[in-house]
Amino acid sequence: MTLAQLTVTNLRCIEHAELEVPSGLALIWGGNGSGKTSLLEAIFLLGRGRSFRTRNTERLIRRGQDHLRVVGRVQALSGASTVLGLELAGQGVTARVGGRAAGSLAELSQVFPVQAIEPGIHRLVEEGGYSRRRWMDWAAFHVEPQFVDTWVRYTRALKQRNAALKSDPARASVWDGELARLGEIIAESRDRFVKHLEPYWREAVAALSGLPVELHYLRGWGQEHTLQEALLAARARDEARHLTHPGPHRADVAMRLFGRPAREVLSRGQQKLVAVAMVLAQLRFLQATTGATPTLLLDDPAAELDGEHLERFIAQVSQLKSQLVVTSLHAESPLFGSPARSFHVEHGRVQPV
Ligand SMILES: Nc1ncnc2c1ncn2[C@@H]1O[C@H](COP(=O)(O)OP(=O)(O)OP(=O)(O)O)[C@@H](O)[C@H]1O
Ligand SMILES: [Mg+2]
Repeated sequence: MTLAQLTVTNLRCIEHAELEVPSGLALIWGGNGSGKTSLLEAIFLLGRGRSFRTRNTERLIRRGQDHLRVVGRVQALSGASTVLGLELAGQGVTARVGGRAAGSLAELSQVFPVQAIEPGIHRLVEEGGYSRRRWMDWAAFHVEPQFVDTWVRYTRALKQRNAALKSDPARASVWDGELARLGEIIAESRDRFVKHLEPYWREAVAALSGLPVELHYLRGWGQEHTLQEALLAARARDEARHLTHPGPHRADVAMRLFGRPAREVLSRGQQKLVAVAMVLAQLRFLQATTGATPTLLLDDPAAELDGEHLERFIAQVSQLKSQLVVTSLHAESPLFGSPARSFHVEHGRVQPV
């Protein structure tokens, strides 16, 4: 799938923009604050239902407006195309896929797989498990489409159990069976993903950073218990804190290097390289297992990389042969060769050049 056409309304400084996106390399260039990252956010939003810059999607709505809208047409290799759209008004998000209301935002992801490498990507290494769980789940979702449904049902049961822990603790355990059953399925899917990723990971992290960073999957409760047993054992603590402790909502991928947590050892630039390796390994793995070639958004890709590491990065990205949308401060950006199309952005206005 590649993005062929994009329409953006009321997203940050962009009042309205329409673009024909080439299937190869597109360059978005303009000065600071012109709207380049906002345009990438629009594309990301179309495939993910959220931004890569903030968890508060409503902040993307243009100041003084009450809604934003992104519509795109994606095209399969066969030439068949699908229109998808996302509208955000106040706190509510609605998505449409092929003229129908989508059941969940995850449907967008299935039709338009997109990944971003942007200046905040080092957070994948530096911060808590939240972003690493999303990273695992995006891949698990593409490889095992039923994963989303399991995840949606697990999340619903978890919310209900937590609500019961607050209002009527004695009733909370009625959710344990459902939670334990779905939670084990999620943990197994993620376990499979991390195992299958391993060879792609070793290759990508060595090629990009030359560092022997190891990934260890942690499923969110102790290895020696089933989730049902862990829920039972945690009940007193859960009741005291009104919160479910064990479960895949607490999963993580521990990253270690020289016997210590990677985030304590790595420099900022190294964190970026390692995080980029996580994304590239995942894209390679997806290509190999599903044949899909997700669109890759590169925001200010040279930031924080020295000459040698930038070259390694370029070589790795070029091998993917994905649709690329790259931002630059300058009209000439030789990193990935000559673009099929360039767009100049100024005060939120987007012009093909
Ligand atoms: N909700 C909003 N409504 C209107 N404008 C906004 C909103 N949020 C951010 N902006 C403005 O949008 C502009 C574009 O920001 P963006 O991050 O896309 O710029 P950029 O071209 O990527 O810049 P840089 O080269 O510095 O990364 C900024 O001037 C910012 O102040
Ligand atoms: Mg920017």
